Amino acid sequence: MKHEGRPHHEGLLVIDFGSQYTLLIARRLREQQVYCEVISREDASHGPPEGFLLKGIILSGGPDTANDTHSRSLPSWVMTSSVPVLGICYGLQLMVRHFGGTLRSLCAREYGRSHLTLEDWVATSDLAPLWQNHPKEHVVWMSHGDDIDKMPDDFEIMARTQRSVAAIVSKNRRFMALQYHPEVEHTHLGSQWLKNFVQHMCGITAPWNAGSLLTELLASILQHVKTGKVCVACSGGVDSTVTLSLLTRALGADRVQGLFVNTGLLRWKEAERIQKTLAEIGMNIKVIAAQKTFFDALKGMSDPEQKRKVIGATFVDVFADYADHHQEDYTYLAQGTLYSDVIESGGSVGETIKSHHNVGGLPDKVPFKIIEPLRYLFKDEVRALGKELGIPDHVLWQHPFPGPGLGVRIPGEISAEKVMMLQQADHIFISALKEKGYYDEVWQAFAVHLPVKSVGVMGDGRTYEWVVSLRAVLASDAMTAEVAPLPMSFLTEVAANIVSSVPGINRVLYDITTKPPATIEWE
Ligand code: XMP
Repeated sequence: MKHEGRPHHEGLLVIDFGSQYTLLIARRLREQQVYCEVISREDASHGPPEGFLLKGIILSGGPDTANDTHSRSLPSWVMTSSVPVLGICYGLQLMVRHFGGTLRSLCAREYGRSHLTLEDWVATSDLAPLWQNHPKEHVVWMSHGDDIDKMPDDFEIMARTQRSVAAIVSKNRRFMALQYHPEVEHTHLGSQWLKNFVQHMCGITAPWNAGSLLTELLASILQHVKTGKVCVACSGGVDSTVTLSLLTRALGADRVQGLFVNTGLLRWKEAERIQKTLAEIGMNIKVIAAQKTFFDALKGMSDPEQKRKVIGATFVDVFADYADHHQEDYTYLAQGTLYSDVIESGGSVGETIKSHHNVGGLPDKVPFKIIEPLRYLFKDEVRALGKELGIPDHVLWQHPFPGPGLGVRIPGEISAEKVMMLQQADHIFISALKEKGYYDEVWQAFAVHLPVKSVGVMGDGRTYEWVVSLRAVLASDAMTAEVAPLPMSFLTEVAANIVSSVPGINRVLYDITTKPPATIEWE
């Protein structure tokens, strides 16, 4: 059994037709405290998910051409359900075809900004609330090759751009569609439009926030985990700490055990710090010391992908070995999987830039039932939940730390000595950022140990030692990143500090590359 803990709350269903923006639709709704779920077109064939209190449906955009016979079609139940349906871009085109209109290809392509003009009749009609706080003309973001040629009989045009029809609505007001993308930031009033749709068309009024969330999640866990103990794979990061705390609150500390694998690839004194913090907030945590296993497994390896895969596989082996020896002790394994992980792993993905390691592969290897109580939540919602649970800010607002840890910050072969040097340099950098108040201003900061030695001079002597590069970036979702403009005086002070106190390092660089073309981590 996989307990998915679906919140018992009214919400919207977003049917994904493969658009790169689908996740953003869900983000925009959640930002307005509206519960929503994304399902793929394939999964939508069978109807809405069981137990979902459906108040509205959104059909996403997508790469298909609605005129094409092999394109993804509308699930039939959507058109006969009683809730409002909003089509976006490809969703509009599906709706037009379904109701007997026609589309034309490549006549009025629009990519990027367009000026939308509302039809005069809208402002004085029952649809005025849908366009509340929208001037008659405003900027929207378009990305389409097909557009409406002939309108379906039962529909009216609400807005146009210079080149095409931009918004339509059925005369019965249950179906409406936008050719533009309200979910992208470039459509400045897009969030407002979605808010209007949710409030005035779907009639959702009760907000979905951390308070209601906590009560619902606790009840759901109690209902599903009636007997037996739960072990929680805990890395000390935000998601797994909130998972551990949530389960502890629901079931009591006697029934919940946090398990932390020390890979030896952690930050300076990280294992001790995590153990102390979790104990302070009333959680049980046990450390599995596996440093030697990881170093042995990584011996002689320098290819980034190979290292990532070995670290991931070793993690699973260590955990599975522990589980084998404790089969009698636990019934469940809890993981801090988030909704963005669920959507991204279910969606169509492009080329693999890096194999991500969290606790992937674990569910197949352990003899326990899996619970993922955060599986429907985004990061900001998890932080709000963590706050409700009393987890300190320094845990909730810590920088992201990759699953393979310092393993992706030591290009070339990894050794215990290099890890030690890196831990010290990183600690000096992070402490200085905190001291000067820069830590909370950057998305992520860290040091990287480079497989390069350079000549230096210390006192009167020649040195020939390793190089460390510092990295600090500004980002909002890690898809892109800018270089943090840290003052040169600060950087030179940190560099001097590192070189004078970390044996084996005689040169420090600052990485000034954005993402893209670089990635945030070096490997
Ligand atoms: P990149 O290097 O791809 O990283 O620009 C983007 C963000 O993801 C983090 N990262 C990971 N996080 N497991 C994780 O949980 C991983 O395997 C992993 N690799 C990279 C990285 O720190 C940055 O925040």
